[in-house]
Amino acid sequence: MCGIIGYSGHRPAVPLLIEGLHRLEYRGYDSSGVAFEQAGKLEVVKAAGKLAALEAKLEGNPCLLATAGIGHTRWATHGLPVERNAHPHLSQDGDMAIIHNGIIENFQEIKEELVEKGHVFLSETDTEVLAHLIGEERKAAPSLREAFAAALRRAHGAYAVVLLAPEEPGIIYAARMAAPLLMGVGVGECFVASDIPAFLPYTREVVFLEDGEIARIEGAKWEVFSLKDLSPIAKSVSHIPWDMQAAAKDGYKHFMLKEIMEQPRVVTDCLSGRLHRDGEGLRVSLHELDALPVPSRLHIVACGTSYNAGLWGQQLLENVGGIPTVLDIASEFRYRDPILRQDEAVMVISQSGETADTLAALRLAKEKGCKVIGLCNVVGSSIAREADVVLYTQAGPEISVASTKAMCSQMTLVALMAAYYGQRRVPAVKDSALLHALVGLPQLLASALPAMQERAAALALRFASARSFFYLGRGQCHALALEGALKLKELSYIHAEGYASGEMKHGPIALIDPQFPTFALALDDALYPKVKSNIQEVLARQGRVIALVQERGGKAPELAAEELWVLPEAHPVAASFLALPALQLFSYCVADYLGKDVDQPRNLAKSVTVE
Ligand code: F6R
Repeated sequence: MCGIIGYSGHRPAVPLLIEGLHRLEYRGYDSSGVAFEQAGKLEVVKAAGKLAALEAKLEGNPCLLATAGIGHTRWATHGLPVERNAHPHLSQDGDMAIIHNGIIENFQEIKEELVEKGHVFLSETDTEVLAHLIGEERKAAPSLREAFAAALRRAHGAYAVVLLAPEEPGIIYAARMAAPLLMGVGVGECFVASDIPAFLPYTREVVFLEDGEIARIEGAKWEVFSLKDLSPIAKSVSHIPWDMQAAAKDGYKHFMLKEIMEQPRVVTDCLSGRLHRDGEGLRVSLHELDALPVPSRLHIVACGTSYNAGLWGQQLLENVGGIPTVLDIASEFRYRDPILRQDEAVMVISQSGETADTLAALRLAKEKGCKVIGLCNVVGSSIAREADVVLYTQAGPEISVASTKAMCSQMTLVALMAAYYGQRRVPAVKDSALLHALVGLPQLLASALPAMQERAAALALRFASARSFFYLGRGQCHALALEGALKLKELSYIHAEGYASGEMKHGPIALIDPQFPTFALALDDALYPKVKSNIQEVLARQGRVIALVQERGGKAPELAAEELWVLPEAHPVAASFLALPALQLFSYCVADYLGKDVDQPRNLAKSVTVE
């Protein structure tokens, strides 16, 4: 979703805003713009399309003197992705500019009121309405700050909004309500942004803003006050351990490839401090969960890839952890008025920690008196802050829009949780083979990934011309099949459907023909014979099959398929962690071969902060 950056300090603001917007590109966008002060006047430059178009427009603009400004990448919600709808938007008098991420739900009503007062709008956006409303409020308010707050008090919905007005030179106001916004505190300079990478080269000192807070930055000075009554709010500064290397491509062609190849390190970091050896062998410590009672039932709620990670973990949480576990898609959860008992818990899984539907599910669960466990990657994100207990997945910044390493870390943590709850049961259930498999995973992955990349590239060449794909799997591989299909469609725009293999004969098998290949997950687990039969059914209908299998006793299994992709022998849980990058690499290679925008697929946003 939209990327936001604001700067006030001693450096030329515009190049810094553009650099920050590049670092927010991963969020997905279709137009961009900046506003800055030039000789006491407000200047706005915007362009449809990628940031290169904005940079071209700024060429030759003598904007280097400006040391305060705001910048935005827009992911269209209200109005087409064209230049007039790009942010920043100006007030009626053109003397203040705002950028915004979110949706002002009552904008139509406010717009009608303003039109009656003679306001003329140049775009179809809710943001322009808000800019005009601030301008209108300024006529009566004693200060800009008060006008900003008064307008925001009238706005319903979600927003992260940043204001620049030459009336107060070098000063930027920013406010947040249900959309991500944080402040970076540097030396003699401050930033506001939707995400940390925007200002990471300049500072790692961060102030997390809460809903209903307004920040004011002016060079080295910053303050936060309440939207409600403008009273000052004391905030603490947190240090972020990420460095720039973590957010750079590191020699890889794409962030996505880098993030796939990082998975051995991701598992190591996720396990770190959470697995210990004692007299009885390996033990899991998830001290964050110690204070919560063992839930009588766990509801996992998430979207997209994070949902697939939850689905993958369901079986482990039930069989190893002994916790009855149900899954919900976050965008459906709150609308079905779920029965949530107080002895149950809700676990929301989210890489970004900002997904609007997942956050709404969390809030609903809390309203109903349920404890909420948040599985999050982004430190200090809304979900991390609002959950009763947060377990960080520690995958590091995920820049590619398509989620890869985050799922690996979520699976690692869910497996640890299953073992943890197994330990807490009386009598304790121990699955030491599972824990040993997790310990050996980084090494196993690191040694398998290079060959997997080669195999994925070769298969991509053979199958990139397909227009549709089935992904089949059973048990935990069903979740992986869903994820494989999701990755292929979002990256390469090839239609793909993930199915539980056994469901094929209940309808989908009608689609099978030589033009509709199947990617079958046939790992070496208890369900292998069943999957083998399902593959036979596809082959019998002239379907082409890539079968992802594992060596047995040093040899590939006997299985009829057009292509066997053989993974090393491993514990069944570890095998899932091998299958995941195989699926990711296959989609990556197909998309790259087809020349698609791998890191920023069309129409997608990295963190979906609107419903
Ligand atoms: C797919 C993808 C999305 C996200 C989903 C949830 O590659 O990235 O499906 O998984 O939008 O996002 P988070 O995990 O940030 O809540």
